[in-house]
Amino acid sequence: MASIKLFVNILPYFSHLIQRKLCIFANKLKVSMRDIIIATHNKHKIEEIQQVVKGKINIISLKELGLNNDIPETGDTLKENARQKARYVYERFHKDCFADDTGLEVDALDGRPGVYSARYAGEKCSFDDNIDKLLEELDGKTNRKACFKTVICLIENGEEKYFEGICKGNITTERYGNKGFGYDPVFIPEGHGESFAEMSGEAKNKISHRGIATRELIKYLLK
Ligand code: IMP
Repeated sequence: MASIKLFVNILPYFSHLIQRKLCIFANKLKVSMRDIIIATHNKHKIEEIQQVVKGKINIISLKELGLNNDIPETGDTLKENARQKARYVYERFHKDCFADDTGLEVDALDGRPGVYSARYAGEKCSFDDNIDKLLEELDGKTNRKACFKTVICLIENGEEKYFEGICKGNITTERYGNKGFGYDPVFIPEGHGESFAEMSGEAKNKISHRGIATRELIKYLLK
């Protein structure tokens, strides 16, 4: 009986101690999580990348840093563009950062739109304009093979490092789904029965070009 009383009396002390220990542990985790700037204004990309790095890396957006102007992207390859975007941000903040550049390469179009995927239907065009143009150009073509390619450029202490991800698939003849962004409604990844725009963000990330490249980046950053 006496020992039960003693236990009841000291219980609050222990629970307080456990709580304190948990707080210290949580703070340690936060402190040890690495801060890294993501050099993009594309909220879809930020969302996808956040989902992959969650709990491992602390992503800082350009919005948080007050950088709202467009980042120049004038290269002729995904690598050049990823580098240009990451350098632009690194030179302003001198903090580790990374940028992703992605393109859709379509076999029947000899790899177009590729690095020009964002402006495929013209300057300031919408995702819908790009899809319309793609479906028009592929009209009547039986070879619908395509792939998404992502190149990530990391700038760490001023040094560049690159990570890549490729996702093969097929272009549909009409739009399916309304999730995701860009060409997602007309791209069915190889071995799957639904378009990226029909999948959850998590399912897309598991197999997508960006998911693959981001996991490579994390592997490097956490090694
Ligand atoms: P960026 O130059 O890397 O921002 O991407 C070029 C264009 O490719 C974007 O404007 C989108 O239209 C398209 N894009 C990039 N990533 C994806 C994706 O994961 N799914 C569908 N379209 C994408």
